[in-house]
Amino acid sequence: MILVTGGLGYIGSHTCVSLSDAGQDLVILDNLSNSKAAVLERLREICPNVVQFEKGDIRDKATLTRVFNTFKISAVLHFAGLKAVGESNKSPISYYDNNVGGTLCLLEAMTAAAVRTLVFSSSATVYGDCSDVPIPEDNSRSATNPYGRSKLFIEDILADLYASDNQWRIARLRYFNPVGAHESGRIGEDPVGVPANLMPYIAQVAVGHREQLNVFGGDYPTRDGTGLRDYVHVMDLAEGHVAALRGLQRQGGMLTVNLGTGRGTSVLELINAFSLVSQREIPYKIVERRLGDVAQSYAAVGHAEQILGWKAKRQLSDMCADHWRWQIENPDGYPES
Ligand code: NAD
Ligand code: WQD
Repeated sequence: MILVTGGLGYIGSHTCVSLSDAGQDLVILDNLSNSKAAVLERLREICPNVVQFEKGDIRDKATLTRVFNTFKISAVLHFAGLKAVGESNKSPISYYDNNVGGTLCLLEAMTAAAVRTLVFSSSATVYGDCSDVPIPEDNSRSATNPYGRSKLFIEDILADLYASDNQWRIARLRYFNPVGAHESGRIGEDPVGVPANLMPYIAQVAVGHREQLNVFGGDYPTRDGTGLRDYVHVMDLAEGHVAALRGLQRQGGMLTVNLGTGRGTSVLELINAFSLVSQREIPYKIVERRLGDVAQSYAAVGHAEQILGWKAKRQLSDMCADHWRWQIENPDGYPES
């Protein structure tokens, strides 16, 4: 059985489907701080294998001990954590507590249970303000906010752990910009409040929940003046986790891998692609740059292909079509249950 922390969240839930499709039984541990119980019902509809659920916090030792004692866990996929950059500037302590403290608790429990296979959700945010693209894994790392710093700390903790005992099998996966939804339209991204990220914002404008999109900056040194990002379909990302788990099971070691498409898409290109797929107008206005944004960020993807045999397959039009299906079929996100 695989333990999926944060498995009711956006990326974790989609990864549960891919793991289940690959024949794995799962137990999800989530405190529902940024997700709803309805995700579990939807997962049980679409997952072919067993999906167990424990409501609890990764910082709670008793909960972790119970989970490891109850289920025969062979590996952990660790998504649980806080992820909003702006919020992390306002509440750094809760970011370090949840992300770094939570990971330490998990690692202690894994050590006690002799479970030493871990796939960790890192982020392209560890490349800081690097704008030299495509970005390879051996690029220098830095942080521009407490969220990013929490990911740097965890990456370093995992490296120290592996150095202390190379029986550990650890993958540090650096996601670029995950978007889209499962093709069933049953699960997807359900941000609380005003979306901080571009794709969910566009989708909420398209569905009529918001009037217009603010495009942050039209004077970047890019082909149309707006920022370029590496949008990657969340199901490609999910399959990347299955490949990483298989890679660890096959060869062990510590892997550090970018998960992206290697292509940069501008804000205006994404608006156009979404508009085409949804057949809706997306009103927008170009405003000031957002503090802390880089002009461009996209992944060097050779390493993922070489060591995991994984490559993103889905196109931008698939990302928009699947995100739109989810949005139009669930205009208010998941129901409260
Ligand atoms: P999410 O907020 O949708 O999912 C995280 C889940 O973890 C939520 O269901 C939440 O309730 C749960 N959680 C949070 N703290 C917890 C705790 N202490 N104990 C138990 N459960 C807890 O986020 P996501 O977009 O699915 O991101 C998953 C991971 O990927 C995060 O670690 C995030 O930093 C990382 N990541 C996300 C992105 C992105 O753009 N979405 C990009 C790069 C990396
Ligand atoms: C994409 C582009 C914006 C919103 C963030 C985090 C990063 C990672 C993913 C977790 C940029 C522009 C956005 C809007 C806009 N998360 N934009 N109007 O900034 O690449 O990455 O999410 O690890 O850490 O920093 O993604 O979706 O916020 O922005 O014009 O309303 O869209 O300026 O060019 P970003 P994003």
